[in-house]
Amino acid sequence: MEVVIRPNADAAADLVARVIAHELRSHPRLVLGLATGNTMEAVYARLVQMHREEGLDFSVCRTFNLDEYVGLSSNHANSYRHYMNQHLFLQVNIDLQNTHLPDGMAANLPAECANYERLIAENGGIDLQLLGIGQNGHLGFNEPLSAFRSRTRVKILSPVTRAQNAPLFPGPDLIPHRAITMGVGSILDCRRCILLATGEEKAAIVARAVEGPITSMISATALQLHPDCTLILDETAGSQLKESDYYHWVFENQPEWEPFRTAAPAAKINGFQARNPSVKKPVEAV
Ligand code: GLP
Repeated sequence: MEVVIRPNADAAADLVARVIAHELRSHPRLVLGLATGNTMEAVYARLVQMHREEGLDFSVCRTFNLDEYVGLSSNHANSYRHYMNQHLFLQVNIDLQNTHLPDGMAANLPAECANYERLIAENGGIDLQLLGIGQNGHLGFNEPLSAFRSRTRVKILSPVTRAQNAPLFPGPDLIPHRAITMGVGSILDCRRCILLATGEEKAAIVARAVEGPITSMISATALQLHPDCTLILDETAGSQLKESDYYHWVFENQPEWEPFRTAAPAAKINGFQARNPSVKKPVEAV
């Protein structure tokens, strides 16, 4: 596991987007695993910008999302299909036929889950999986006690998760109780995982995920077992980590990060350039 701490949320999301863009340019038929949530919106906005301004090409890539609510149709405003269409798919040149989310309206949910696993395998597995983290440490909707060998299946949403996602729904009774989610085992099979977490409300769970004991009570601790996993954080999300100096040192010295360190665009903190505190002049345009 690697931990990269950027000065602010914009810089963290920008780094995630640039890693995805780099992989997409090197492997146009990339199989991308995608995530939803507020945190990801900045990543998708940056990818859309790269598509418009730099011609980032999505035409032959394939995508699989982590999860979908049971009982919400694809055109429901709170479905993850709707989220993905709005934030990414309809804004870039992706072929919608190559975009996949579980069908939360499927009549036979276990068959839908098995079919989703089969589709991922038929596409050669997921090359790069983007992940967020819930406040209880879930990945996708792998709620506490999800088995580390679990595959795509239906999970009951915990009270913490329902409360966390409540602001997105018009009323508390309308929050689904269940979701289809890729399993922890399905996620661990992805060739590379990148988890993005920003904001102070993620600081405690990020510290437990990175530096705490591995436990199925916190699905994200399973990532400690993954051979190629990077957590990209802003400073607030990384603020409860005990070993952040070490993580900074690794990032500064890891040759593979070279193009990403030097090419980092100016990031804003309260209107000032963030990367060089000695040159505090207002940022005019980013
Ligand atoms: C939902 C998704 C997760 C995501 C989480 C974080 O629960 N199923 O995949 O990681 O939201 O959301 P946010 O970025 O809004 O904190």
